[in-house]
Amino acid sequence: MRDYRYYQTIFAGIPKPFAFVDLDLLGINAQQIRLRSQGKMIRIASKSIRSVELLKHLLEMDDCFRGIMCYSAPEALHLANHGLDDLLLGYPIWEPVWLEKLAIAVRDGHAITFMVDSVEHAEHLEKFARQFKVRLPVCLDADMSTDFFGLHFGVWRSSVRSIEQALYVLRRIVASDHLEAAGLMGYEAQIAGVGDRAPGSIFKNIAVRMLKHVSRREIRDRRALLLETVRQMGISLRFFNGGGTGSLHWTGKEDAITEVTAGSGFFAPGLFDHYIDFRCQPAAGYAVEIVRKPAAGIFTCAGGGFIASGSAGRDKLPKPYLPKGASLLPNEGAGEVQTPVRYRGGETLQLGDPIFFRHAKAGELCEHFTRLYCVSDGRIVKEVTTYRGDGLCQS
Ligand SMILES: Cc1ncc(COP(=O)(O)O)c(C=O)c1O
Repeated sequence: MRDYRYYQTIFAGIPKPFAFVDLDLLGINAQQIRLRSQGKMIRIASKSIRSVELLKHLLEMDDCFRGIMCYSAPEALHLANHGLDDLLLGYPIWEPVWLEKLAIAVRDGHAITFMVDSVEHAEHLEKFARQFKVRLPVCLDADMSTDFFGLHFGVWRSSVRSIEQALYVLRRIVASDHLEAAGLMGYEAQIAGVGDRAPGSIFKNIAVRMLKHVSRREIRDRRALLLETVRQMGISLRFFNGGGTGSLHWTGKEDAITEVTAGSGFFAPGLFDHYIDFRCQPAAGYAVEIVRKPAAGIFTCAGGGFIASGSAGRDKLPKPYLPKGASLLPNEGAGEVQTPVRYRGGETLQLGDPIFFRHAKAGELCEHFTRLYCVSDGRIVKEVTTYRGDGLCQS
């Protein structure tokens, strides 16, 4: 029973603010992710975890978790230095300083795969591969957005939007003595990362579900055709990556896909409460302390305003989690140094008591804290550092 008293008792004496992960709920989420992935291997999106020890903890949990999708060069190097293997850079990198370091890491035996979506990317990488006399593994990112009557349903990332464009880039990769075509990625952000059960948005939810339904069929066909075309070229790839927390159950069923990516579903932040197909357990949060009682039922906390990235909106605010019945005030939201919380529940809250929040996004929580308290079976079992605690910041 994860109620206010449960966590309040566990964290008695721990100075606030602090962040925590409930390892028992994390384990339940990991099992859910395994089941929903339909037997496919699961690559962990590190941006949603941002702690080396927790990444290792997840990788050790089950053989189905294999490999990391990294989000930046310094991060990939950090993970390689900590012994993590099979690192896929989920996004292209251009900065020469980092490409030099990554090429050296590959030369030294680290398994790092680079993301490209253009001939320009491939040729840029090739320069560093030639300079350091290595063959760099690359993955082609194919766009999976869908256009409906002028509406772009998806993200603006890859420039590869047709089979012809994919072939054009792949031919350039195959022609190079310094690049190796290692994989394909087709990430359907509009399905994996868009909730379709948001409270108070009936019409939007219906529209998103309809768009997802149509988009799914198109993506399935596009991925199958892409793989078939690659095979006809005689290229044998190591992997075809797709999916994210919100689409595992469906992407995992596709024959073309060899591995799915999951990140957010492990911590299950606020934005992942709103999917029709699955529910996750709130496994991560943070606590701030009540420092003022300006009026009956209002408890003002120190700090707490950790707003998520993306298009600005109320859904990017942190969620008061425990005690149940706590909510933010519309006029103030979550503030940088003061966050008033309305509470009408049964607990008698005093100055110094904690209010527990959940971040709207998973890994961004770790940008605000240097460590996470790991809880299991009613007690703190260990403390782990976040990337920030290791001296890395998001950039
Ligand atoms: C390329 C890519 N694949 C997969 C994911 C899925 O991650 P999550 O499970 O956190 O939604 C993301 C997240 O943004 C991504 O950028």
